[in-house]
Parts: sequence; C-alpha cells; structure tokens
Amino acid sequence: MLSKLLLKHSTPKARHSERILKKNLTHYLVEQQRQQGSVSAEVRLLIETVARACKVIGHHVSKGALGGVLGSLGSENIQGEVQKKLDVMSNEILLQANEWGGSLAAMASEEMDTVHRIPSHYPKGRNLLLFDPLDGSSNIDVNVSIGTIFSVLNVPESAEERDIQERDFLQPGVRQVAAGYAIYGPQTMLILTVGNGVVGFTLDSELGSWVLTNEDIRIPKQTSEFAINMSNYRHWHAPVRRYIDECLAGTEGPLAKNYNMRWIASMVADVHRLLTRGGVFLYPTDQRESVQEGKLRLMYEANPMSFLIEQAGGAAIDGTQRIMELQPTKLHQRVGVILGSEEEVQRLQRYHSEA
Ligand code: AHG
Ligand code: MN
Ligand code: MN
Repeated sequence: MLSKLLLKHSTPKARHSERILKKNLTHYLVEQQRQQGSVSAEVRLLIETVARACKVIGHHVSKGALGGVLGSLGSENIQGEVQKKLDVMSNEILLQANEWGGSLAAMASEEMDTVHRIPSHYPKGRNLLLFDPLDGSSNIDVNVSIGTIFSVLNVPESAEERDIQERDFLQPGVRQVAAGYAIYGPQTMLILTVGNGVVGFTLDSELGSWVLTNEDIRIPKQTSEFAINMSNYRHWHAPVRRYIDECLAGTEGPLAKNYNMRWIASMVADVHRLLTRGGVFLYPTDQRESVQEGKLRLMYEANPMSFLIEQAGGAAIDGTQRIMELQPTKLHQRVGVILGSEEEVQRLQRYHSEA
C-alpha cells in the first residue's frame, strides 16, 4: 500500500523511500528462513556477512589506480600463480569480516595454503566457507569485470567436537548449503542460491543495499553461444575439438545453426552471461601437463558455479561426470569444467562417452 502511494506521488524524496522499501537481501533471506526453511539463521547471517565483505571489495575495485589497488605483489600462492594486490586484499577482507560472526568453524581460499580456523576467542559455528576472493585476476589491471565466488558447507558431524582439518572440507558439491558470487562490473551484483532457485541482487551504492532485481534466474535449455579460450585449440582432447568444430561449421555443419563466441577470462563474468542469456562455458582438461586435471578449482570455483547453474536449470560436468557428485581429494584440486545450457552440455557428455 505504502509503496503504491509512493509511486503515485512520486517526488524525489518519495522515490528515495520507495527504494528503501524494495525487497533486498535481508528480506529475501528472512523469507527463505521462515517460509521455505531453506536456510538456517546461522547461514543467513553468514551470507549477509559475505555480501557485506563483497561490498567492501567492490568499493576497492572501483577505486582502481586512485586507491592504489592495481598491480602485483610479487608473491605467489600455493598454486604458483603470481598474486595481485587485490587477490590478497580481498582474501583479508573476507577473513576479517567472517571471523567473529559465530557462523563458521573454518574458511579456505584460493589464496591460502591450507584451512583458516576461527580463532578460539570467537564463538565457533557449524559451517565452513570456501572462496575465490578475486576471480579473473588477469582482468584487474585492464578494467574488465571480475568477481568473488563462495561456497558454504556444513561442518561434518565427526568434526563437531574437534579442530577442523582440511579433510572436513572435502565434501562433494551436492552437500553445499549455499553458493554464489559477486560481480564487480558496470553494476555490482550478487547472485545467490540457497538450493531454492537462483536470485540476483544489484547493489544500490547510495543506500548500501543489495536490491532484489532478478527473482528467478533460468538458463534456456538450448543455446547458440559458446565460451572457451580458443588459443588452446591445439591442446584439446578430441571430444572438445569435435564439438567446437561443429559449432564453427555453423548452418552447414551437423548442429545446423550459427554459433557466436565470447571469452571474458573471468569465470564470474562468463557465467554471469550464461545466467543472463544462456550459453555453454568450457575450461576442459587438455594435453598440457599443467592442465591435465583442468585449470579451474573444484572446491571454490567449479562447485559453487555448478550449484548455481543447476539451480537455474542448466547442467555442469567435468566431461563425463556431474561435477557436484565428484568426491574431492584435496583442497586445491583442479577439474575440467563444462557447464551451461542443458542440451549442449548433454551433447558434450555424449561426445566424451563415445570417445
Ligand atoms: P583466478 O583469477 O581466480 O585465478 O581465476 C581465473 C580463471 C577463471 O576466472 C577464467 O575462466 C580462467 O582463469 C581464464 O583462464 P585463461 O587465461 O587460461 O583463459
Ligand atoms: Mn578464479
Ligand atoms: Mn582468484
């Protein structure tokens, strides 16, 4: 009623109040907790805290050279990748924001060798948080969209009474209780699933509020757009080559339609496009020694993105198997990733099994 009135008598002040009344992240999560039972109070608080940290990261990202956040640090992470300033800053922001809230027992991240337990002077919660603090590091200095990816798991029963170990994180993606990403692009957005569909929020930076703007994100079953780093063509295995060759053959090939191609090289931005207009994304295993097991990381890139994609009606495989059913064996495990519109992913799965 109030919002209708405000719309009718729409002065700038009224419009401001109307924005405050729009459904935001807190409303959405409270509703999910009360009506759907899809999040616990602890997980609700945790997601709000992660979202707050992403606001801070987004703020630093937007400052760019003015904030002195561009460039590298000269250090390397455990995977031998050069760390950018923003990789390390974002990791610190997420750690600090999430340490004291009482929802977590431990955290793990791309930028840390092993697990980070909650210090003993804070209450210990029943959840585990994994993140890729800054995804798309190669795009930081060229002002292209980047993001933060996160995944939430429960502490396994066997670990409730003792300190968390790395092995407690090694749960298949089907056990995730929530996952999402923030994208720092022309708009800052938060895309989230708590296992009940996928929703999107846009940051209203004046109000500091994550406003619900995308209520039920769905991926079309078919597509005519693919995303892959074509420069690796010569390294690919036969099934991937076969599929991409068929896409390139267009209307004259077996797929009988013309395909478009995009590759942003920030997984967050590529997946965001898929969730917006469909498509298929591939970072497959290939013949290079360093990519034998894939490039992307299972626990904090592939699993959370697969959860989102499946919840939006798409599919996600490593080539032959559903990513979310893989049993992880190590924290920084890599995996081949093929995800997006269901029919294309199924076709790729068939090509892999036929090979
Ligand atoms: P990160 O910046 O977290 O290390 O991840 C980068 C990943 C991913 O975002 C992207 O899809 C892929 O690397 C791009 O790899 P190429 O540069 O090999 O295309
Ligand atoms: Mn990444
Ligand atoms: Mn990263």
